[in-house]
Amino acid sequence: MRTLYLSDPDILHIESGSPLRGLASVPGDKSISHRVVIFGALAEGASHVTGWLSAGDTRASLKAIQALGIPVERHDDTTLTIHGGQFRAPASALNLVNTGTGIRLLAGIMAGQPFPVTLDGSEQLRRRPMRRVTAPLREMGAAVTDRDGLLPLHFEPSHLRGIRYELPVASAQVKSALLLAALFAEGPTTVLEPGPSRDHTERLLSAMGAGLIIAGGGVTLTPGRSLNPIALAVPGDFSSAAFLIVASTIVADSQVTLENVSINPTRTGLLDVLKSMGANIQVEETGYAGGDPVGRLMVQSAPLGEADISGETVVRMIDEFPAFMIAALCADGNVTVREARELRVKETDRISIMAGELRKMGAVILEQEDGFTIQGPQKLTGAVVNGHDDHRVAMSLAVAGLVAAGRTTVRGAGCVADSFPGFARTLAQLGVNVQ
Ligand code: S3P
Repeated sequence: MRTLYLSDPDILHIESGSPLRGLASVPGDKSISHRVVIFGALAEGASHVTGWLSAGDTRASLKAIQALGIPVERHDDTTLTIHGGQFRAPASALNLVNTGTGIRLLAGIMAGQPFPVTLDGSEQLRRRPMRRVTAPLREMGAAVTDRDGLLPLHFEPSHLRGIRYELPVASAQVKSALLLAALFAEGPTTVLEPGPSRDHTERLLSAMGAGLIIAGGGVTLTPGRSLNPIALAVPGDFSSAAFLIVASTIVADSQVTLENVSINPTRTGLLDVLKSMGANIQVEETGYAGGDPVGRLMVQSAPLGEADISGETVVRMIDEFPAFMIAALCADGNVTVREARELRVKETDRISIMAGELRKMGAVILEQEDGFTIQGPQKLTGAVVNGHDDHRVAMSLAVAGLVAAGRTTVRGAGCVADSFPGFARTLAQLGVNVQ
């Protein structure tokens, strides 16, 4: 059963017509929130965290850490203390529910433990590819079995050795799994990747004292140093802000300021693309949190033009494509996205699911194997659409509802609480008619 927040009901009704105006903040960064509980568990001593994202995905990681014998004090929803130290064998398989980040990061660590352990997840997670992690872990000597490249993963104790590994696809989850396994291996591990995936693992592990060097397009971790506990204020999640950025850009007369958002450059490809299309977004850097630069984003509605997106930019905005599709539908011109095949192996196949749901609203989207083409501007009509248990799909469809004629109903919207608890409440505070 999914926990539904009062403000995140399973059905959202959105009426278009009202601009978004005012000041808002977004919940803590999901990637950093996973990492801080997992890395904090590995450190000897107490790590203190504020601004933590208490959402479906991150709570699954937290529960897994607790099942491994790590005590965690919850002072309130977003403030916690992790008493890191020795893991002990869990009583049963660890269930990571829907979280790809949680399961892949933990896979790296479980490969190096002196006890057997099984990692599993929801039906949705059971459909996602795991060989990208198990193959290099096996090269390191891990005794791991999977079910034809899928969950569950079972680890037996093994002796790990450092390797040099070139990722075939840029992936922060796989890079992180290997760097975490490297903490338990003999000799250094170097990971090279074809594009700049998010670097939260590197930033946080370095801040906690790991022997990590970034050079020559790769990251090398030399084991031997224990991790120090950390005090961390998690900044707001850029990927959650993205829905509000797109919404304020495309809904006429909007003017929104978003405070305390991480503007880590490995995450902000959407800003570069929207600005190149004519968006009116000002970014003011206000400090650092959790190793990330943090800023204030001021967004005003603006007409958008064409775009052609591929390569590194895709990696830097990989989670933002569902929201970006709505911006593309409003743009005056042709928008093409290529080299984005990874979108097909996220919580859902985000190319086909988004195109299918948006078609119900009248959109014409040309799907390619590795991307899509949208000729805008297109008129959308309110419809009953489905979030498919994918938080970013559900929120993007709600944003589409803001520019569609009439009322849009998003069914299966409870999943927004996987990353953005309070999404509907935030929209309502900014003036959107959402129930
Ligand atoms: C994440 C990495 C990305 C991203 C996911 C979070 C992370 O996945 O899509 O939402 O926190 O490391 P990939 O590593 O599969 O690209």
